[in-house]
Amino acid sequence: MHEPAMTHLAASDPEIAGLVESEAQRQFEKIRLIASENYVSTAVLEASGSVLTNKYSEGYAGKRYYEGQQFIDPVETLAIDRAKAVFGVEHANVQPYSGSPANLAVYLAFLQPGDAVMGMGLPSGGHLTHGWTVSATGRWFQGVRYGVRQDTGRVDLDEVRDLALQHRPKVIFCGGTAIPRTIDFPAFAAIAGEIDAVLVADISHIAGLIAGGAHPSPVGHAPVITTTTHKTLRGPRGAMIMSDAAHASALDKAVFPGLQGGPHNHTTAAIAVALREATTPDFREYAHRVVANAKALAEALSARGFDLVTGGTDNHLILIDLTSRGVAGKPAAKALDRAGIELNYNTVPFDPRKPFDPSGVRLGTAAITTRGLQPEQMPTLAAWIDEAVKAAGDDDETTISRIAGEVRDLMTAYPMSGWV
Ligand SMILES: Cc1ncc(COP(=O)(O)O)c(C=O)c1O
Repeated sequence: MHEPAMTHLAASDPEIAGLVESEAQRQFEKIRLIASENYVSTAVLEASGSVLTNKYSEGYAGKRYYEGQQFIDPVETLAIDRAKAVFGVEHANVQPYSGSPANLAVYLAFLQPGDAVMGMGLPSGGHLTHGWTVSATGRWFQGVRYGVRQDTGRVDLDEVRDLALQHRPKVIFCGGTAIPRTIDFPAFAAIAGEIDAVLVADISHIAGLIAGGAHPSPVGHAPVITTTTHKTLRGPRGAMIMSDAAHASALDKAVFPGLQGGPHNHTTAAIAVALREATTPDFREYAHRVVANAKALAEALSARGFDLVTGGTDNHLILIDLTSRGVAGKPAAKALDRAGIELNYNTVPFDPRKPFDPSGVRLGTAAITTRGLQPEQMPTLAAWIDEAVKAAGDDDETTISRIAGEVRDLMTAYPMSGWV
């Protein structure tokens, strides 16, 4: 049953209540390997579902455009102070509605339409909002895109430097959505320094690892840091922009009044709760185990002949190129979902296939680590993935159903916040 209990929802809108209940059960029974997802604590769920959703508070603490901020101001101030303490930054803005608006605020703060912005190309693992063609950021700004080396699958820092010197972007993004290796923040900072560009570290995927000491921090290298709060950081759907003092005012003005209206106060409260959780020894242990699980899973998948982009992982994320298995990413992902293992199909660098039907799948270990799975269990997961991918090619639904049963048996033994 969903926790907190949804008795009022069930009485007033049984249709929606039933769907939420079913989703909670689905999350309980599946091996969730989508690299951007997690399970938040019940405390985070309670804050997200609180009466704070009723309140408008355009502006910032002490400078609001609406009355009645006696309790909202301290909520937002607590979230800011906790973000500053967890990440060791001079300034934090906790109002962006999500990761995409947080990145848009960076454009508004430091660029004029038509200016050059550099980021990793989407097919190499960058995010849409780093200047990719179909995004507003690539249509209204001049996107300069770097990639990875074909021989290593890793960021090509020589290319980054060459492109930077050639196009002189005012902003350089590092970080992305499908990067299985440690981001070399000092190297990016050196390149940005040569052309006086603002280096923005988008740590959306790895924020929880950084908070827990399992990935180097960009602080001291990137003056501006954007992040979602709902991936490895294990908070609500939301985002933050952190920076040094010099860039603070431009970023705050860009978020409000530049881009947004009233902040989502229930989300701000839940971000504060998640940031408090991120200071605990348990969270540190979780962050390190996320990486240990990913490394163990990568090793077990490699041992089964899977072709991993970059050959492995340093963080929570693994990218598999399925070309040698003779199955495309999409049918593999769909078969795995039927087998109780949820991940997403993904382009791989230099993918000859289209983004909607690419060659790879992406997986991550944050959610299964939150559930309590350990490195010793990763060979079992790899064996199921191997069998299900084979079954996808052979149209073998019997094997897929058998795996789904075994997955359900495993996962129902592990408690889940949000389900009792
Ligand atoms: C690196 C990165 N930046 C930004 C975003 C955008 O976040 P949102 O989906 O919350 O807009 C994502 C989301 O996946 C991401 O991975």
